[in-house]
Amino acid sequence: MQLPNLKEAKIRNKTKVRILTDLYRVPEELSKIGFGKTYFVKTYGCQMNEHDTENIKAILEELSYLPANDMENADLILLNTCAIRENAHNKVFGMIGRMKHLKEQRPNLILGICGCMAQEQSVVEEILQKYKHLDLVFGTHNIYNLPFLLEKVVQKKERQIEVESKEGDVIENIPVKRDSKYKAWINIMYGCDKFCTYCIVPYTRGKQRSRRKEDILKEISVLIKEGYKEITLLGQNVNAYGKDLDPDYTMADLLEEVAQMKIERIRFVTSHPWDFTDEMIAVIAKYPNIMPYIHLPLQSGSDRILKRMGRRYTKEEYITLYQKIKAAIPNCAITTDIIVGFPGETEEDFRETLDVVDVCKYDGAYTFIFSPREGTPAASMEDFISMDEKNQRLYRLNEKINTYSHEANEKYLDQVVPVLLEQISEKDENMLAGYTDTMKLVNVKADTKYIGTIVNVRIKKVKTWSLDGELEEVVVNC
Ligand code: SAH
Ligand code: SF4
Ligand code: F3S
Repeated sequence: MQLPNLKEAKIRNKTKVRILTDLYRVPEELSKIGFGKTYFVKTYGCQMNEHDTENIKAILEELSYLPANDMENADLILLNTCAIRENAHNKVFGMIGRMKHLKEQRPNLILGICGCMAQEQSVVEEILQKYKHLDLVFGTHNIYNLPFLLEKVVQKKERQIEVESKEGDVIENIPVKRDSKYKAWINIMYGCDKFCTYCIVPYTRGKQRSRRKEDILKEISVLIKEGYKEITLLGQNVNAYGKDLDPDYTMADLLEEVAQMKIERIRFVTSHPWDFTDEMIAVIAKYPNIMPYIHLPLQSGSDRILKRMGRRYTKEEYITLYQKIKAAIPNCAITTDIIVGFPGETEEDFRETLDVVDVCKYDGAYTFIFSPREGTPAASMEDFISMDEKNQRLYRLNEKINTYSHEANEKYLDQVVPVLLEQISEKDENMLAGYTDTMKLVNVKADTKYIGTIVNVRIKKVKTWSLDGELEEVVVNC
């Protein structure tokens, strides 16, 4: 048993990050342990977790497990969890509770949790005490070892808890089973060293470590050969890419090299405003295959609160960056993340956030009420604001955000825009759904043969969160 340790998770030292190219392995005798059995992985949280799930699925299939259609019928259920806010945490505990009766009905069922909550010491302690029906807990640094953990659970019937709290390595040989044939996530870096005072990620994901550019470019060239149309470069703070490798090779350099490859669409998330350089803006503006869409989390518009959050930029600096981006890439869509009710946020501070929203007129935003996360500095800051007040602030903020979102979408009416059609629309089975270059969700009446292609769509109807359109004659790219 290896339990997570909060103190260790906070440490950053100068230990060199190892690039491990042969750590993951499936010995012959384990390659059939899932034979005749099915798995189901439920994913919570961000794109990083979604991509980890793609790795986990591939590992399970190398062990001969097959995907189950639903959780009720699976022989192995894994919850890939998120720790970012309390409601994510509560959802997972609710699900763990519900899984108890499944285990009672089918004692051979294997239940496990992984992901960011598994990295939390208090969560694992609670599981050990109260949730005896869980067979397996493994952390974000332990995915490569899943075959051996399952061996002990399945063959030796031993409960396994393996969560390393170390800073982390880069493991290059974990297989992947991608959810889409057209769009792919690519990790360019892991972890985060920013330690924003409210955020748990630096503890759950370890220190910032960039992948070698050769490994990233190799992965992309394989995807191009397989016919992928879009890649998204992933990291908690992609703009800091390379800083821990060779300081002369930056995110701007990586973006430029990737843009010169034959891939139709390049995206990247998430950009911390602090590391967003002029070189990056220039590269994004220069290459048409880098999509004009940037997620630029603001968090707060008050300098006082930004300082308490440890964000290391001011309102002025943020707005200047925003204006530079808009000047260089006029059609660029910009979205953001905002937290309301951070400890000590006054009505005046909150109004400053609303002021920035009035300046930036975002295309969209994810807005949150501050949620104290155990072990982070903000969790022990004094908090005078009532929940009622926080809810009202969130409501007022969302009203504004939605107005601007709708306004931004209105500009699309009767315009022709490129859309990568991905799947049958969730709201209407006669329509296909996809995204514009600027990341607007579009529903289009079109034949399923267009799935996986980038088509020209004329926008006919505008809503707050999506657009409806019709196919134009010309197909840009098949
Ligand atoms: N790496 C990204 C953010 C990842 S977390 C960045 O720095 O921009 C996604 C969002 O969750 C954050 O941008 C923040 O708005 C929100 N968030 C993180 N911790 C939170 C907390 N404790 N309470 C409320 N919202 C939080
Ligand atoms: Fe969290 Fe800040 Fe790192 Fe983003 S940059 S993951 S908000 S610590
Ligand atoms: Fe959640 Fe972990 Fe992502 S805490 S937001 S799944 S990095």
